[in-house]
Amino acid sequence: MSISDNVRARMVEGSWVRKMFEEGAVLKQRYGEDNVFDLSLGNPVMEPPPEFDHELKRLVENPLSGMHRYMANAGYSETRAAVAAQLSLETGVEFTMNDIVMTCGAAGGLNVALKTILNRGEEVIVFAPYFMEFGNYVDNHGGVIEVLPTDEQFIPKLDALEAAITAKTKSVIINSPNNPTGVVYSEDFVHQLGDLLGKKESQYGTQIFLISDEAYRKIIYDGLKYPPVFRHHRQSIVVASHSKDLALPGERVGYIAIHPECSEREELVGGFVFCNRTLGFVNAPALMQRAVQNLQQVTVSVAEYQKKRDFLYSNLAEMGYSLVKPQGAFYMFPKSPLEDDVAFVKELQQWNVLVVPGRGFGSPGYFRLSYCVNDRTLEGSLAGFKKAAQKFNMC
Ligand SMILES: Cc1ncc(COP(=O)(O)O)c(C=O)c1O
Repeated sequence: MSISDNVRARMVEGSWVRKMFEEGAVLKQRYGEDNVFDLSLGNPVMEPPPEFDHELKRLVENPLSGMHRYMANAGYSETRAAVAAQLSLETGVEFTMNDIVMTCGAAGGLNVALKTILNRGEEVIVFAPYFMEFGNYVDNHGGVIEVLPTDEQFIPKLDALEAAITAKTKSVIINSPNNPTGVVYSEDFVHQLGDLLGKKESQYGTQIFLISDEAYRKIIYDGLKYPPVFRHHRQSIVVASHSKDLALPGERVGYIAIHPECSEREELVGGFVFCNRTLGFVNAPALMQRAVQNLQQVTVSVAEYQKKRDFLYSNLAEMGYSLVKPQGAFYMFPKSPLEDDVAFVKELQQWNVLVVPGRGFGSPGYFRLSYCVNDRTLEGSLAGFKKAAQKFNMC
């Protein structure tokens, strides 16, 4: 056998989004791209904002000496300083470039953070439904993932968390706005979470890192204000990315920010820099770091995403689907009318609508759809949703 048992098992387990992608490719070949309504992928349809093109052009027309060379593994100090200034503004906590490490997207940042903090066998808590890669990333670095429930509004159950934390708990990962639900946690919730982690740290004499995956932080609707974890827990690590807010997922640029008053901060940042290097990322892409430096206040059109959310939410709700209205990101997580979410996803496929079963996110009985697609795809998907709603007497 050439590949490891662990990798083989994980390839089979965690492949729902990929499976949908492959089945979609077959449908598209059979019926033509325009006749398949693919809501399975979180790959933004929007182009990056014009300011990004402007920055790229500026860099190409005014090249800096050595701009494609190796650099310090933490990234360019100018870019880190720009990220720090923006975070200070957003959170009211004073950051410097020494609190920031540039990474290859949030995926790179999560792996760097987890490798830095985890000893073999230590536990990392997540809440279902969750971005399934968390399980693979924790496993990459010898940790053990523990999955806890959320309530009907997809908010983590704090009583379950209180009962689950042990001396072996090294970290809790949250993700708001959430993939797959689109839910944004309130300031009150983040405050209670921070309080609980502080209490448990005192009880066990340990440090519990709150890792906040903020890949979608800037895609937030209805004028909501984003509650920063930094105000509520000192052992906080934020992992962020420009994959979604600047629509640059292929360019692999993001960052880790650590609370400036986190205990052993310097050693932790040293660990991040070391792991960025030794995991083989070396550093976040040079050109992209330069390009995003001046774009810390720029975001793709959130109004456009909100319009898509409103369109799809109101139509699905009217058809009888049971779903929580998302407040951010670009996903919805309706209840499957069939207990077997895979069977329901197959029903939708008969109408050329592609979505992902909830079990792909640790929550069977639901399905995820992604509305970062063009309006024609969204509009085209409605007929299939309607037929399925009629078939299962939801109307
Ligand atoms: C919740 C969540 N975290 C992290 C990532 C990884 O993003 P990046 O492209 O920045 O690595 C994604 C990508 O879809 C995501 O949904």
